[in-house]
Amino acid sequence: MQVFVILPAAGLGTRMAPVSAGGQPPKQFLELGGQPILILSVRAFLTVPSISHIFVAARASEMSRVQEQLQKHGLTSRISLVEGGDTRQESVHNALEQIPANEDDIVLVHDAVRPLIEPALIERTIEAVQKHQAAIVALPAIDTIKQVERTADGAIITSTIPRERIVMAQTPQGFRYSLLRRAMDSAVAAGFVGTDEASLAERLGVEVAVVPGSPRNFKITQPGDLALAEFYLKG
Ligand code: C5P
Repeated sequence: MQVFVILPAAGLGTRMAPVSAGGQPPKQFLELGGQPILILSVRAFLTVPSISHIFVAARASEMSRVQEQLQKHGLTSRISLVEGGDTRQESVHNALEQIPANEDDIVLVHDAVRPLIEPALIERTIEAVQKHQAAIVALPAIDTIKQVERTADGAIITSTIPRERIVMAQTPQGFRYSLLRRAMDSAVAAGFVGTDEASLAERLGVEVAVVPGSPRNFKITQPGDLALAEFYLKG
């Protein structure tokens, strides 16, 4: 059994706009502790011995920049670059098309902008996929969660969702290759676009297990997140 990894890194990082507006590159290329965020994510997965190969999905216009960064950091084996798409799902789909996997192999998908993933958490996700066929890392909800209806002024609450029934999805999200392939093909055929891979499996009625996540595995999204990531990195 082999384990493949897809790192979608083709986002525009528009929520970083106040920073990007100053001419900075998308967030996956910003530096953390002297290394690009994407490189830190790649390194985390390369430290896990059972991982055979990593597929990085990058925007067509950024492929050469990613290639240069990988070479500069000596990361040339067990890595391939694929062209990303207009949505995260499309980027993952493009990578999935390239993976030479057998039905029982495992595919992990991890947001390139979660560079502080701990190798032990990656290993726990792989173990959970071996046991349950599909598993994602997630954190319990700490805040009280409200369902709302959007209004011109903002939003009006329609209900409160019991907090104990909520988890907040992180990545890695892992699946047997055959299951992810089936879920992706079905979503594409139906025109369904999800913001994660678990939602594609859920719509087929597949049970997806939850592996307890970690606060440091957060997604670098807004300008202040870089300072928080530096803090975790130093800690
Ligand atoms: O936009 P979001 O925060 O969901 O992005 C999560 C990950 O998906 C990021 O690493 C981003 O680079 C990637 N992505 C992608 N292709 C897109 C949009 C996002 O690979 N078209």
